[in-house]
Amino acid sequence: MTHILILTGAGISAESGLGTFRDKDGLWTQYDLEEVATPEGFARNPALVHDFYNARRANCLEAQPNAAHAALARLQRAHKGHVTIVTQNVDDLHERAGAKDVIHMHGELQGALCAACDHRWPAPRVMSPDAPCPSCDTPSTRPDIVWFGEMPYRMEDIYTALGDADLFVAIGTSGNVYPAAGFVMEARAMGIATLELNLEPSDTASAFEDARFGPATQVVPAWVEELL
Ligand code: APR
Repeated sequence: MTHILILTGAGISAESGLGTFRDKDGLWTQYDLEEVATPEGFARNPALVHDFYNARRANCLEAQPNAAHAALARLQRAHKGHVTIVTQNVDDLHERAGAKDVIHMHGELQGALCAACDHRWPAPRVMSPDAPCPSCDTPSTRPDIVWFGEMPYRMEDIYTALGDADLFVAIGTSGNVYPAAGFVMEARAMGIATLELNLEPSDTASAFEDARFGPATQVVPAWVEELL
């Protein structure tokens, strides 16, 4: 049976009320990503960075998974072959919709990391620069989020899964940020079928053999329904 590898981006959580990054009034039109999503920005002003992620963590807690998250969880349960979900999103809406073993390549809002000793623990609702690490006690805690210039998580697992896949599907991502934006070309090079499900053609749309456009809450359930 077919192994489907799905890559999701902010667009799958847009209809849950969580902002995307590059759409009109997206997060990067409201905040300077250099200040809130880079290690240099964190070193300059950790309080601003914590405020940014505390606000996103609060939004995430209030948000609900939508029909697209639910459809992917259903696909994982009902599809005879394997379904790997890789997400660029740091929200936990896939998990709250019932998805399993989601690979968060850009980290998670629900995770905290100590910049001094690499200890990880479940993030409190509100993080602050002077909160001590529960393990080494130094005030060096940060959100467990992969910032620009840092290495995304679990890349080996992702490439192993991609190499084994029969179908690569990108959902709700603009194809702006590598290495995720390059997965479609890797898939094509390995002769894997490719499909884009997005509100509108992404920056990598031309690389996909097939595409369906519209809101994720309509396009994703319809696609899953057809598959099952
Ligand atoms: N349904 C489907 N797609 C949608 C919807 C929707 N309701 N709303 C928006 N989209 C699409 C947009 O057309 C766009 O292609 O989702 C995509 C969102 O693109 P971005 O805002 O660039 O988000 P993403 O691709 O996930 O960004 C990748 O960039 O800032 C970093 O680490 C951050 O993980 C993020 C990465």
